[in-house]
Amino acid sequence: MRLLFLGDIVGRPGRTAVVERLPRLRERWSLDLVVINGENAAGGFGITEAICDEVLAAGADVITLGNHSFDQREALVFIERQPRLLRPANYPRGTPGRGATVVEARNGARVLVMNVMGRLFMDPLDDPFTVVAQELEACPLGAACDAVVIDMHAEATSEKQGLAAFVDGRASLVVGTHTHVPTADGRVLPGGTAYLSDAGMCGDYDSILGMQKDEPIRRFLEKTPGSRLEAASGEGTLAGIAVETDDATGLAHRVAHVRIGPHLAPSGPDFWE
Ligand SMILES: [Fe+2]
Ligand SMILES: [Fe+2]
Repeated sequence: MRLLFLGDIVGRPGRTAVVERLPRLRERWSLDLVVINGENAAGGFGITEAICDEVLAAGADVITLGNHSFDQREALVFIERQPRLLRPANYPRGTPGRGATVVEARNGARVLVMNVMGRLFMDPLDDPFTVVAQELEACPLGAACDAVVIDMHAEATSEKQGLAAFVDGRASLVVGTHTHVPTADGRVLPGGTAYLSDAGMCGDYDSILGMQKDEPIRRFLEKTPGSRLEAASGEGTLAGIAVETDDATGLAHRVAHVRIGPHLAPSGPDFWE
């Protein structure tokens, strides 16, 4: 089975890169499932229903979120009627939406997709390790589903590596999001779980984390309130990870970093070309 995960869509450059490139990638690589983090899709802050629909129509099967889940207030409402949009599962009980779902991939496989948020240098949510363990117990890989994809939205690499080691052999992929910078450590762990510390962002890398540079620089120099952060407006680059899993076990065979666009050294799954 062929999976593609792409990191945080940031503003219009990220959306345009996804909408223009994803339909062709889906065909070229015969992708069975595509998951994309969309927490910064609306001008860098949250996601609207129109943008959510646009990204799903471009070929995403599931969209995950993070600490910016509800920056656009309308997400509090439409997430309830959009089963393919996930917010972190370890939000407090009663938070609108859901943190995990089972979707049917293009090849007919059942895939559990989960979104959790780390707690180091982040908002203090429920323990993500316990939440992930509960979800995996309710829907075990190889029994109730054919693949498991976990988006671990977190700041600290240690916490992301910790979660990956914790579920190694019980998930197809654990991928980090949130830092907006892709890491180079994509690999298959000893138990068969594919791992990447951070997928990076789909956005304009001539920026500071996808935002125009002037205001962040000013904030570092002058500790005073200023103008709003605005998403950068140059051409977007796609970043994430491609994973091939074993149909029998749901564990990963091989992975490739995905970087397509003007600003990063190009990379892709040559084994699917
Ligand atoms: Fe983000
Ligand atoms: Fe984030």
